[in-house]
Amino acid sequence: VEGEGSEPLSRRESQVRFGVVTAWLDEDWHSRRLLDACARLGRAEAVDPAALAAFVSDAAVEIRLGPDRSTGFDALVLARGLGREGDGDVQFEIYRALEGTGALVANRIDALLAAQDKLRTSWLLRRAGVPTPRAAVAQSPEGATSILVEIGEAVMKPIAGSLGEGLERVTPDRAGRKKVLDRLERDGAVYLQEWVSHPGRDARIFVVGNRVAGAVERFAPPGEWRTNVSQGARTEALRPDLASARAALDAARALGLDWAGVDVVDGPRGPTVLEVNGNPSWAGILEATGADMAEPIAEHVWARAQRRMARLEITQESAGTNHG
Ligand SMILES: Nc1ncnc2c1ncn2[C@@H]1O[C@H](COP(=O)(O)OP(=O)(O)O)[C@@H](O)[C@H]1O
Ligand SMILES: [Mg+2]
Repeated sequence: VEGEGSEPLSRRESQVRFGVVTAWLDEDWHSRRLLDACARLGRAEAVDPAALAAFVSDAAVEIRLGPDRSTGFDALVLARGLGREGDGDVQFEIYRALEGTGALVANRIDALLAAQDKLRTSWLLRRAGVPTPRAAVAQSPEGATSILVEIGEAVMKPIAGSLGEGLERVTPDRAGRKKVLDRLERDGAVYLQEWVSHPGRDARIFVVGNRVAGAVERFAPPGEWRTNVSQGARTEALRPDLASARAALDAARALGLDWAGVDVVDGPRGPTVLEVNGNPSWAGILEATGADMAEPIAEHVWARAQRRMARLEITQESAGTNHG
């Protein structure tokens, strides 16, 4: 409700207007926590991605919500940015257009897509010097066999997968070749990542901005090497060592993510990043540590929006615009 209360005008003017984008407000408690956390810092409204419309005129793209309603958000927080209704590609393109017109969208759409793609993640991490295993993809039987031989002991993963599903350990022998060729036939491509030996546990480090906001150690159940909570791992609160924290922070930065869940395993060559999640759950962290990652996320986005609003004011003032 605008214009009520006794807040000084300046404070009210600089209040951040958050749009929390989610198609699953009722089902997804992450979305609700983000909405609540944003509402504590400014004005926050849930936005259904399928309700977004965009109007293109000249160089501008105006985003609308419903009939004749310009959005006017200072920040869009992509909680669950793809809706079950509407068109996913259009929704992506709207976020991209918004970024292109200078709006603050977090996480950024290209960063989210990079995190979803294991090949892209691998090369962005290696390019940034973040410790991560060697990885390769192939699309032909000869290619698949040759990357298997070259990488050796490996984990085969869906290129866009999660929850530890579809992962298989393979070795460069008959059985391994068969697994790789079967996968190739099914998916059209295979992704292999060098196996990193670890004692059935790893760290899930939750990065927000340039700091570690929370972390848990995940212990795989007996006989299981995948440490995903969805594969039965249990979690304990963790204070990551400096090198693991550094690797996680560098990984999130390499992908351009405002917040991320980074899987770091303590391998023979020290902390090694296996994967970066751009849309991470923090149920395990909340349960093990009591910390709600929605708070630091909202604070981080709020701070970015504040800096941006201050910059815009300076630009307008120096351009001689009087908007008083
Ligand atoms: N290269 C690897 N070496 C050893 N363990 C791995 C490797 N890759 C994945 N794992 C194990 O499998 C889990 C899931 O792999 P990950 O790449 O994070 O896929 P997902 O997106 O399904 O979570 C990791 O948390 C880790 O425990
Ligand atoms: Mg993972």
